Amino acid sequence: MSKWAALTSEETAVLAESIGSEQADMMIENVVGRYALPLGIGANFLIDGRDYLIPMAVEEPSVVAAVSAAALLAREGGGFSTGSTDPVMIAQIQLLDVVDSAKAMRMILASREEILDCADTSPSLTRLGGGPKGVEVRQLPDTPAGPMLIVHLLIDCRDAMGANAANTAAEAVAPLLEQLSGGRAGLRILSNLSDRRRAWAEVEIPAAAFDNDAYDGKDVVRGIAEANAFAFADSYRAATHNKGIFNGIDAVLLATGNDWRAVEAGAHAWAARDGQYRALTDWHVRACGKFESLFGRLELPMAVGIVGGATQSHPSARLALKILGLAAKNETEPGAGSRRSDEEVSAETWHQGARRLSEIVAAVGLAQNLAALRALATTGIQKGHMRLHARQVAVAAGAEGEEVELVARQLVTEGKIRLERARELLQK
Ligand code: MEV
Repeated sequence: MSKWAALTSEETAVLAESIGSEQADMMIENVVGRYALPLGIGANFLIDGRDYLIPMAVEEPSVVAAVSAAALLAREGGGFSTGSTDPVMIAQIQLLDVVDSAKAMRMILASREEILDCADTSPSLTRLGGGPKGVEVRQLPDTPAGPMLIVHLLIDCRDAMGANAANTAAEAVAPLLEQLSGGRAGLRILSNLSDRRRAWAEVEIPAAAFDNDAYDGKDVVRGIAEANAFAFADSYRAATHNKGIFNGIDAVLLATGNDWRAVEAGAHAWAARDGQYRALTDWHVRACGKFESLFGRLELPMAVGIVGGATQSHPSARLALKILGLAAKNETEPGAGSRRSDEEVSAETWHQGARRLSEIVAAVGLAQNLAALRALATTGIQKGHMRLHARQVAVAAGAEGEEVELVARQLVTEGKIRLERARELLQK
């Protein structure tokens, strides 16, 4: 992997050590330690014709193995194709006590240019072609606190996740909006339902690729389509279905220093956009004569960055981006001269920057879901899970080194993966 991503020996060592305590202390408050997670590599990914190794930080056994197996299957259909919108975030300004909302809305929309100028608080974003792009006004006529007007500023955040840019702009325009509306500004904050900033991934795999000794591929793909239909129609199932998607997505977001809570919040709100919480994916069978294939698609809001925040300040996140081929040249190479500004990095990486990351993440989510549905539609997930789970139980019982595998194997053979039994086996 180090060779693949051209990591230096120092960088490879950083992967093992992650952040030091001084760095941790600078990231958050009241630091008492560091909490490490395993960093694994999702293998076999072919995305838009390019091979990728995917860094994934996750505590759950099977996630990395399952996504790698699904990515291998996807190669039978030429891998994943992806796309994304411009990286446009929404900043919201809440206006209260507006006496004449119709007039206020007219005034605000007529003052679009003035508002955009006032919201232009990040010269570097504007230089890169981003910055404030639009103004929208929504009416909430009937809230528990009475009627209110909500102004949306649309801000192109380029390679940044953009929370700071959106919040700064929202705060900057609030006084002008008060003047224009005659109202009082309340909240000024980004929306995590970043539905203007979406990424999608698609895959089409021949049914024959799912054939094995126990199953006919056509039955498997039908089972996967039926599983998706279940999660489309039923919110109880959709929550679990989407959780499985986030097993993969969160792991990449964590590894790359991105705000996974923001992406989760946006995706769950998006999943309920027609009033019912549904599956984020679509899987269906396509038939052409005797030939059958499974088509899958995942689309969701995806506010991610490759500059700013932990993406650059956390050494492991920087390296994860480098493994993905998204770090700017020299950015992580020691002795490469003075550290460049975020704008310079962004200008250089824009063509394959945050949008590319969002597309890769969507492909990982789709692959993770495929892995879960294939298992659920056939043998169930427990068989694969148990071997890895048994290793964790063995470690929890105190097994070390070679004992771990020995105890785990015996637990699986006996079909009883219990802590007491692991302790007994260890004593023996
Ligand atoms: C477990 O972490 C995730 C699954 O439950 C997802 C699913 O049911 O689709 C296997």
